Amino acid sequence: MSLIEKQQRHSLEQIAEVKRILCATEHAMENRMPATLLVTSAAPAEGKSLFAAVLAATAAQSGKYRVAALDLNWHRPALHAFFDLDLSHSLQDIVGTALSDLVGPSGQDALDILTAPADYSDDCDLNALVAPLTSRLITQAKAAYDLVIVDSAAIFPTNRMMMDPVMLSGITDGVVMMVLTAATPRQQVRKAQKIMEGAGANILGVIANQRRMSARS
Ligand SMILES: Nc1ncnc2c1ncn2[C@@H]1O[C@H](COP(=O)(O)OP(=O)(O)OP(=O)(O)O)[C@@H](O)[C@H]1O
Ligand SMILES: [Mg+2]
Repeated sequence: MSLIEKQQRHSLEQIAEVKRILCATEHAMENRMPATLLVTSAAPAEGKSLFAAVLAATAAQSGKYRVAALDLNWHRPALHAFFDLDLSHSLQDIVGTALSDLVGPSGQDALDILTAPADYSDDCDLNALVAPLTSRLITQAKAAYDLVIVDSAAIFPTNRMMMDPVMLSGITDGVVMMVLTAATPRQQVRKAQKIMEGAGANILGVIANQRRMSARS
């Protein structure tokens, strides 16, 4: 069963909302495709990966785009789980391989997924390569797909030297910020926004995730 079908079983309203967000995103990007879109948030566990997965599936289902969803949150990989995929590459595989040989089918037409490496750790030997590597993956994805959705880590805490969502915000065409409304202080969202704008980010908008979560994992 596709991600969309799973979602549809839960809430038709949510799907309508994601379609509206896709439409607003297309408008904000002035329909300039191909385009790369970063999904990030100020704090962890605000719903970035779920939103990135559903937006990618919704865009592919529209029939207008070839879509790639890239899991560039290697600290807390999640996209694979939404599409029932395994983490099948090592970081070394990703370093030495073109994006076209790394992406796999999502199970849904017109949507490919790049899963995170299975063996990434913050202190691994290849860390110095990660910034140029992620930039190369984004460039290759933009050349091969109409819409590239990048799932990333949260801006805070700032403890990632090599795969910083702030750096990603500066090299993607647009940024969508998830905000878990009941949890994240407004000042923290503003601070994250300012930091990304300082890095040259084109912030398209904020998505309010109104889900109430008892605790962040
Ligand atoms: N609106 C929602 N409705 C239902 N479940 C949700 C919603 N938002 C988030 N969740 C669930 O909350 C959990 C955390 O969401 P998700 O993994 O998307 O957050 P994240 O921001 O990507 O986290 P991380 O910072 O770890 O990458 C997941 O199990 C996700 O399915
Ligand atoms: Mg995530």
